[in-house]
Amino acid sequence: MPQYFGKLPINEQPWTTIGTVQSVQRGDRYIRLECGGPSLTISILAANLIRVRLSPNGEFMPRRSWAVTLPDEEWSVVPFEVRETDEAVEIETEQLRVCVHRQNCRIECFNSDNQPFAHDTEPGMGWRMGAIAAWKRIEADEHFYGFGERTGLLDKRSEVKTNWTTDALDYGLLTDEMYQAIPFFIALRPSVAYGIFFNTTFKSQFDIGAEEPGVWRMETRASELDYYIIYGSEPAQILGTYTQLTGRMPLPPKWSLGYHQCRWSYESEEVVRELAREFRDRTIPCDVIHLDIDYMRGYRVFTWSPKRFPEPAKLLSDLARDGFKTVTIIDPGVKYEPEADYHVFEEGIEGDYFVRHADGKLFHGYVWPDKALFPDFMRPDVRGWWGNLHKSLTDIGVAGIWNDMNEPALDDRPFGDPGNKIWFPLDAPQGPIEERATHAETHNLYGSMMARASCEGLEKLRSNERSFVLTRSGYAGVQRWSSVWMGDNQSLWEHLEISLPMLCNMGLSGVAFVGCDIGGFAGNATAEMFARWMQVGMLYPLMRGHSAMSTARHEPWVFGDRVEKICREYINLRYQLLPYIYTLFWEAATTGAPILRPLLYDYPNDTKTYTLYDQVLLGSSLMAAPIYRPGIEYRAVYLPEGVWYDWWSGDRYEGGTHILAHAPLERMPLYVRAGAIIPMAPVMQHVDERPLDQLTLRIWPGSGEWTLYEDDGHTFEYKSGAWATTKYSVRSDGQHIVVEIAAREGNWTPAARETLVELVGVGEQRFVDDGTQRQLMFSTPE
Ligand code: GLC
Repeated sequence: MPQYFGKLPINEQPWTTIGTVQSVQRGDRYIRLECGGPSLTISILAANLIRVRLSPNGEFMPRRSWAVTLPDEEWSVVPFEVRETDEAVEIETEQLRVCVHRQNCRIECFNSDNQPFAHDTEPGMGWRMGAIAAWKRIEADEHFYGFGERTGLLDKRSEVKTNWTTDALDYGLLTDEMYQAIPFFIALRPSVAYGIFFNTTFKSQFDIGAEEPGVWRMETRASELDYYIIYGSEPAQILGTYTQLTGRMPLPPKWSLGYHQCRWSYESEEVVRELAREFRDRTIPCDVIHLDIDYMRGYRVFTWSPKRFPEPAKLLSDLARDGFKTVTIIDPGVKYEPEADYHVFEEGIEGDYFVRHADGKLFHGYVWPDKALFPDFMRPDVRGWWGNLHKSLTDIGVAGIWNDMNEPALDDRPFGDPGNKIWFPLDAPQGPIEERATHAETHNLYGSMMARASCEGLEKLRSNERSFVLTRSGYAGVQRWSSVWMGDNQSLWEHLEISLPMLCNMGLSGVAFVGCDIGGFAGNATAEMFARWMQVGMLYPLMRGHSAMSTARHEPWVFGDRVEKICREYINLRYQLLPYIYTLFWEAATTGAPILRPLLYDYPNDTKTYTLYDQVLLGSSLMAAPIYRPGIEYRAVYLPEGVWYDWWSGDRYEGGTHILAHAPLERMPLYVRAGAIIPMAPVMQHVDERPLDQLTLRIWPGSGEWTLYEDDGHTFEYKSGAWATTKYSVRSDGQHIVVEIAAREGNWTPAARETLVELVGVGEQRFVDDGTQRQLMFSTPE
């Protein structure tokens, strides 16, 4: 059945709704309303964060530790007032007011300007066999974003979104269930925004006005309703709180921000060496080579093919010498192989680490290695075991792990037979005894918990070096363990086009380190498509080229000189921008802000940005308006309020209007905000080729400020103070443009360097950058 029929099964049973409030009890962080059997609790966790829970039988499940980092009792107590009237119980914090009607327990929220949001509507909250749901009003001018990994464009109003991790092979514009399941969204209208985190790992669904235009519904197969409402006047505030709730990404190694090259597969040592040589000979920067499943012996995880990769340690150290890091793929399926001396199978059986049926029999499915067993990553002991297995890889120099097929993706028949995609039996027990659950509850977590095992394993094994983890599947909070790519996209213009809104919605779901396969995974890119894709790919937080078995090769040089030159230019630009991009990663790690973002993130009151899906911001200063169609050399570009400059020509524009950009194949239209300060590095062939000996600050006239973050880029020493920040600002005082450089802060000292300040269209000044404060004056041009 096509995935767009992916609705929850039709159930005609009527909903039972919650009744009248009979008593109200107040704690220091919550109120509890008893409703003649059912209970409702509203916890106040921050001035802009409340948690709503409804239990039809009045008993609440114990807390699950899986996605939300902080239990309710660990949030610091915030002041709130409770007012009781005959009609309602009202809670008021500094930022919001929640009103619960006594008669039907409907919840209404208001901000401090009395603007309503997240209002319950008919039938309010209800349950029936196997489902519990809530209905809320859609305000006339409201738009909806986030929802994790989603195809299509940016705004999800009028759509149905199911949360159930799935191998979404062959996905298209109408696909519903994807690899990632992140039940979180942001609703936005001018000056009022709110986020909803639906705290359920069971299969769940949002209907954003599809069934009834003015109503959105959330429904889950869990037995109680549990959701968080996060208020914010704009998305940035909501994401800050949401990532406080579900965690933020750790700062990755700087090399993982460089260009990654992947293919299914670079199938032998010779092919990999040749690939690395091509990059260096052609002076196209590259930091990372990914090895897909064929490096293994018969797809057995944690092995190497003795025929094709006879000397992996030597290969990896030679690659490292040439500045390449190696990332290997690890899938969850462990080959079922009794009596074959396969240590992973044997240890897994011995430790009883694999998923079993409810009756205790081992569960198996079919994946690359044929019959396979699956570790129960919900268990900390299993994660510990799995993590340690990476020692055989890290010992010989593997620097990152790519987790795939972890939705989990499996068949009921050997791969190649016309089998069916299956998942574990929904009643299969998973997790440690103290938190034992069924697969129905843990399915959506399988990818996240596998990535967690990899992340924690690498952290232990490479305790002085940051590692890189990439996962295909995940749940809310996956950003704590891993970066994410959008699975098997296709070499189609449409897929290039939707890559931007897909990644933007991931960023608005708390997952900042994301990318799509440049060039498309399935199918064959054309030269023109590849050039355009590399331009867009330069903006992806994770910049990785990949392609599938038996498709045309997709390396930067395969499409001839003209496209090779374009690829080189845009990969070079990526490397030049790394000081800027690395700072954006630091921001994401400390505040939850997306790296790649839709314009509405920075212009939340400009309704023209609400459906604008084909222009993006990389941080708040750089805006790209890529070309994603064949034969197109011109396109309309919306410039929000303010002054903008063309990155390439320096032309100045007054914003608040559309312009027509000229974009021959060599040009991706790129703009900078007036007052932007962009730190740039010299082009290097890999990030650690040499220390940053020259920093260029490109500054555009106007007023603005920016803080550069630096550290050694690869150890954990930043955690104990070995970092540096420098605040730069620019302003005009009539006759002069003044650039101020504040004294460097923090305990890390960058390599000796010269800093070149290039005030675009005005002039240049340079100085030896010793971290002291200084002021540079430029005469304003006539
Ligand atoms: C899956 C992955 C793809 C990988 C292939 C072989 O299709 O999504 O990236 O190349 O498996 O491992």
